[in-house]
Amino acid sequence: MPLRHALAYARLPVADRTDTCITCHTLPLAGKAVAPGVHCQSCHGGSEAHVAGRGMTKTTGVVDCRSCHDARHHPGFDRAKLWEVIRHGR
Ligand code: HEC
Ligand code: HEC
Ligand code: HEC
Repeated sequence: MPLRHALAYARLPVADRTDTCITCHTLPLAGKAVAPGVHCQSCHGGSEAHVAGRGMTKTTGVVDCRSCHDARHHPGFDRAKLWEVIRHGR
């Protein structure tokens, strides 16, 4: 189950890999490039400082799950319950 974020692109039907659909199923990189799936940087902002500090600087922010698990794509989203599924860090 925790692998679901990593597989978010692989599980998307090939015909649905359009600009509209991939936004929440990939990580945007420079230009039009994307990395398939939901990655650390999809949730953790401020990775520039983290990289510059060779991993010794914490990422500065964590996105709101609801930016992807929104009312349309995941109506019954229960953050507390689903955080337990992917809990990591402290
Ligand atoms: C706003 C973010 C967002 C966009 C845009 C989006 N999705 Fe998703 N998608 C999600 C989330 C979040 C889930 C997980 C929902 C859940 O677990 O109930 C999901 C799950 C899915 C799954 C389910 C995989 C499974 O478990 O069976 C499919 C298929 C899918 N999306 C297809 C699409 C298609 C097709 C489009 C374009 C029409 C699209 N998505 C656009 C956020 C998005
Ligand atoms: C789905 C969103 C999401 C993804 C993907 C994600 N994280 Fe997190 N991460 C969080 C949240 C939410 C917290 C809790 C933040 C808090 O406690 O303030 C957290 C906390 C952490 C922490 C502890 C808090 C800190 O800043 O020291 C570390 C370390 C961490 N994540 C590393 C990672 C790494 C490495 C990856 C990729 C393998 C990753 N995370 C992927 C959402 C995510
Ligand atoms: C960048 C978009 C994005 C963000 C941000 C995001 N998710 Fe997801 N998440 C997805 C997509 C897309 C799926 C569906 C993957 C699949 O099944 O193919 C998913 C699936 C999941 C699943 C497994 C499916 C389920 O319904 O049990 C859990 C658990 C989950 N997300 C928890 C979280 C939590 C908690 C946060 C916030 C800390 C979060 N996600 C933030 C995109 C996102």
